[in-house]
Amino acid sequence: MFFSRANPPPPSEITPQGIYLARRSFLNKLGALSAGALASGNAFGLTLPAPANANFPKRQLNPQDSDTRVTPYSTVISYGNFYEFGPDKDSPIRNAHRMRTDPWSIVVEGEVSAAKTFHIEDIVKLAPLEERIYRLRCVEGWSAVIPWLGYPLAELIKRCNPTGNAKFVEFWSLADPEQMPYTRIPVLPWPYIEALRIDEAMHPLSFLALGMYGKVLPNQNGAPLRVVIPWKYGFKGAKSVVKIRFVEQQPQTIWTKASPKEYGFYSNVNPDIPHPRWSQSYERRLGEIFKRKTLPFNGYADQVAGLYAGMDPRLTF
Ligand code: MTE
Repeated sequence: MFFSRANPPPPSEITPQGIYLARRSFLNKLGALSAGALASGNAFGLTLPAPANANFPKRQLNPQDSDTRVTPYSTVISYGNFYEFGPDKDSPIRNAHRMRTDPWSIVVEGEVSAAKTFHIEDIVKLAPLEERIYRLRCVEGWSAVIPWLGYPLAELIKRCNPTGNAKFVEFWSLADPEQMPYTRIPVLPWPYIEALRIDEAMHPLSFLALGMYGKVLPNQNGAPLRVVIPWKYGFKGAKSVVKIRFVEQQPQTIWTKASPKEYGFYSNVNPDIPHPRWSQSYERRLGEIFKRKTLPFNGYADQVAGLYAGMDPRLTF
């Protein structure tokens, strides 16, 4: 059963106490499993007890597309972009096991009342976990439908206590040459930094993912936590975040530094604005043969178009 804003959950669906407690216990297990990933040196085969998975509130938030078949897990873990581990689609699955995700912490700095550090054990307990089925549209033209596990990014942002000067927020990925071989090579201006306007980051669709498919995030998909902004091209969602920095001016990001004409700051999915080297009108869902039409804001226009009212869409590519 899926719910949207137009179709809110009936009172009977609001989390009962038993489920809430099961979820809390899952949170603890999630923390424990992250630790286990390091101990075993294997971040791929982690599973969670099925009863705990079944109890997550699940939300389908792709209102403009009735075809919401989830992309197979095996595909999503084996085809992706994590350039710190190499340029090919299978570089992440081949090389990301080198990354140690425990211990892990996130430093918060810049325009905040006080700089601080969050440890992953605390981050997983900040807010109740929920599952969000979102479409991920990569700027290169492929897409996937992924059930993420996590909570709204706003929950973390609020606890960072940004000051009134904080107009933008940067997310920095880990860039450790010991663990991430390609950060030794200046193929991109490392570290991988992506950024959002504060109101985008606080939007209820913006998500902090700690898992997917009912499991802890595999390393190659951005363990132990990543940003997911479903109405933007996938590159806006930094993986394996180690720093959150609040700033007053619109910052440069890894992609605006690398190629400003190809990758704008906003990068909202827009089928009418081609990339300089290819059209963005169509996409191919991983595992499918035929292409399908790309939707404005990746299908989330009803919920997010208002964020850009009055702005020229050519400036929000
Ligand atoms: N984050 C980091 N740190 N490094 C990356 O190379 N690639 C981005 C984004 N986040 C990337 C990243 C791009 S281009 C996409 S499309 C998505 O991650 C891919 O996510 P997936 O591999 O989990 O499908």
